[in-house]
Amino acid sequence: MDAQPIPYLDLPAQLRPLRKELDAVIARTLDNCSFCLGPDVVAFEREFAKYCGAKHALGFNSGTSALHVAMILLNIGPGDEVITTPHTFVATSWAISYVGARPVYVDIDDTTFTINPELVERAITPKTKAILPVHLYGHPADLDPLLEIGRRHNLPLVEDACQAHGAKYKGTTVGTAGVMSGFSFYPGKNLGAAGEGGALVTNSDAFATRARSLREHGSTQRYYHDEVGFNYRMEGIQGAVLGVKLPHLSDWTAGRRRVAERYHRLLADTPLQLPVEASWAESVYHLYVVRHPRREELKKHLEANKVGCALHYPLPLHLQKCYASLGYSAGAFPVAEKAARECLSLPIYPELTDAQVDRVSAVIHEFFK
Ligand SMILES: Cc1ncc(COP(=O)(O)O)c(C=O)c1O
Repeated sequence: MDAQPIPYLDLPAQLRPLRKELDAVIARTLDNCSFCLGPDVVAFEREFAKYCGAKHALGFNSGTSALHVAMILLNIGPGDEVITTPHTFVATSWAISYVGARPVYVDIDDTTFTINPELVERAITPKTKAILPVHLYGHPADLDPLLEIGRRHNLPLVEDACQAHGAKYKGTTVGTAGVMSGFSFYPGKNLGAAGEGGALVTNSDAFATRARSLREHGSTQRYYHDEVGFNYRMEGIQGAVLGVKLPHLSDWTAGRRRVAERYHRLLADTPLQLPVEASWAESVYHLYVVRHPRREELKKHLEANKVGCALHYPLPLHLQKCYASLGYSAGAFPVAEKAARECLSLPIYPELTDAQVDRVSAVIHEFFK
């Protein structure tokens, strides 16, 4: 068997064909000295808004900061609650904690790993101010029932779309179903910067105007500050790099979907629980997460055979040390806890060849033999 290592993530493979173009735009930024926001960020914002089918996309220095500002724009603060999922990257919850509010977790759906809308309503209290679903691993959350609950209880929806650039819910690109959404351009994301980056996406002029000010020290006119703000600007270099990459995103998504389909087919006869695409979803497969009770052994077996893999995420947020004060205990969210115990992320990126996917599959088959 070919023993060439298969990395979990292969960023150099993505950068190689773009390298000359990237070098040129980075050099141009150095020549222009447009380091903080600037014309490349503005151009990228326009194109990314178009990609999301949104009126506004604002460049931020991370997805975390974009989600933080979304909470501020909704006037959420101490004493308030925001309903979200415990099975996500911790930054979803940071946005809530940063404004002094309390994350209120609701268990996930066993097939899509996203928040279970059937459980949301009973978590609503007079203190609830918003619902924050996550389009996890590139698969959209079930938005319609969440929007319907939101309408009935007068609760806005903010989408954490950090892992789901271009994912579709019932044919519509995610990011505009709620009042705002946050995207991440962390390098390993489906659309990654050459460093940190994020975007706040919205159709609201009022939110966009205030978000522009908040990301730049609460200021619309230099050295005049209307409110306490942040330095959350996107860097010029990141805008330039993202501007080069964005035109490739649809092809990259197609590449990820090709890999996912091949895994589905090749692994169908194994005891693994494979990712499922809901009938209303078009996933962009940020990750390909399989499940099995013997996850730890399988992980060791893959690594011993030079196949990279990862865990997303091994400890749900309600059991993290940083959230002990929320008072949750083990057993509170059994589906999320089981997912955390059993999940294993296989390599998935557009550059992964069919032969590499075949080899990952062969190594897995060998494990179950
Ligand atoms: C689901 C989710 N939410 C939020 C974030 C935060 O994004 P960033 O790392 O750009 O701050 C990430 C990515 O890291 C994420 O995966």
